[in-house]
Amino acid sequence: MSSKFIVRGGNRLGGKVKVGGAKNSALKLMAAALLTEETTVLTNAPLITDVRTMAAVLERLGASVRYSEPDVVEIKPSYPLYAEAPYELVSQMRASIIVLGPLLARLGRARVAMPGGCNIGSRKIDMHIRGLEVLGARIEVGHGFIEAYSEKLVANKIVLDYPSVGATENLLMAATLAEGVTVIENAAREPEVADLAKFLNKMGAKIEGAGSSTIQIEGVNKLHGVEYMVMPDRIEAGTFLVAGAITGGDVIIEDTIPGHLELVINKLRSIGSIVEVYKTEIRIIGSDSIHAVDIATLPYPGFPTDLQTQFMALLAIAGGTSIITENIFENRFMFVGELNRMGSDVRTEGRHAVIRGVPSLSGAPVKAPDLRGGAALAVAGLAAEGVTEVSDIHHIDRGYQNFEHKLRMLGADIERVGE
Ligand code: UD1
Repeated sequence: MSSKFIVRGGNRLGGKVKVGGAKNSALKLMAAALLTEETTVLTNAPLITDVRTMAAVLERLGASVRYSEPDVVEIKPSYPLYAEAPYELVSQMRASIIVLGPLLARLGRARVAMPGGCNIGSRKIDMHIRGLEVLGARIEVGHGFIEAYSEKLVANKIVLDYPSVGATENLLMAATLAEGVTVIENAAREPEVADLAKFLNKMGAKIEGAGSSTIQIEGVNKLHGVEYMVMPDRIEAGTFLVAGAITGGDVIIEDTIPGHLELVINKLRSIGSIVEVYKTEIRIIGSDSIHAVDIATLPYPGFPTDLQTQFMALLAIAGGTSIITENIFENRFMFVGELNRMGSDVRTEGRHAVIRGVPSLSGAPVKAPDLRGGAALAVAGLAAEGVTEVSDIHHIDRGYQNFEHKLRMLGADIERVGE
């Protein structure tokens, strides 16, 4: 039997919760460790399933990966490295595609299975491929694999059609060892991209402008091993903020960077919560009456798609009608059917969801369809009447470390059963 969360709703959350290292940064830093033969040590690394999957990918490529509790990952990509990332691993996690750029830059070739991963839309990789071609790589796609070759990558100007996070990061890593100065325009501005650039610069890369839409990378011959602390996870922080708001609680999120959540905090205030911002902490005091608001997801600094489902759970019990527009991934409404089983009134039409607030949700058996949708269902359960059973929680474990434990510390009635 696979595990489930049993959530008994109705408790107001209170107290302090520490946020871990960012999944979406840690995975890229691990891949970037392939760019040197020296040892990389990551601290504040979240020990979640996706990090373990990336570790398995790196091990398959010939690196050794060691964890030490509570949050240290040590990577040594000893020589020789293999250039092939197999389907059995890449299919578990789409983000594995991020090894393409580093492998190509370091070995001059890479063979990476076409990704599967989170079941949220078609998620193409054309911009990764086109960008690497602009840097001089020869790429063939066929038989379920992407094969890339290049004796030496040569710097160039790359203009992305869209500020894709993964494409920006793959190209950023590849360009660190290319000959000359690469410029990426219309680059993704997510804080995780800036974190990756900071890490690469510590390794000896010469990158300017990461975090803005133009990034300049002067190629170097060699990078070296470093110790680096992964930035805090803004999506985990946002999820606990919603858990505080939906239960009318009083929660302090610790070890976070409030500046990464500006728009999210504004929305919580519009919804009626009181939010106090400190240097590395955010306090949320939820209100008993939740106001309806409209939300549109957009690339950073816009509203993050990774918090869209959690906010929908919150708006499900608002006094009024809200509209959520999902502009990033076409299939991120998959959890709506499950949420409606808990008594919400949500209708979707293409990219739009119309959420008519109901007075309360009712506990029900539901299935986590994906990572963020699963977390949102557990959060909805905190505010629902009666018992919510969330199954398929392996999706939630991909991105949240000790999720139920942290919620329990805040006073939630949630337990994991089965294994
Ligand atoms: C990353 C995050 C994910 C987050 C997303 C958007 C990781 C591991 N995942 O995903 O949690 O939700 O950013 O903030 O960091 N696209 C193309 N062609 C491409 C690349 C992307 O069409 O070559 C499209 C995708 O299908 C999608 C959109 O662009 O519709 C955004 O994708 P992208 O920004 O690349 O997200 P990921 O890097 O996959």
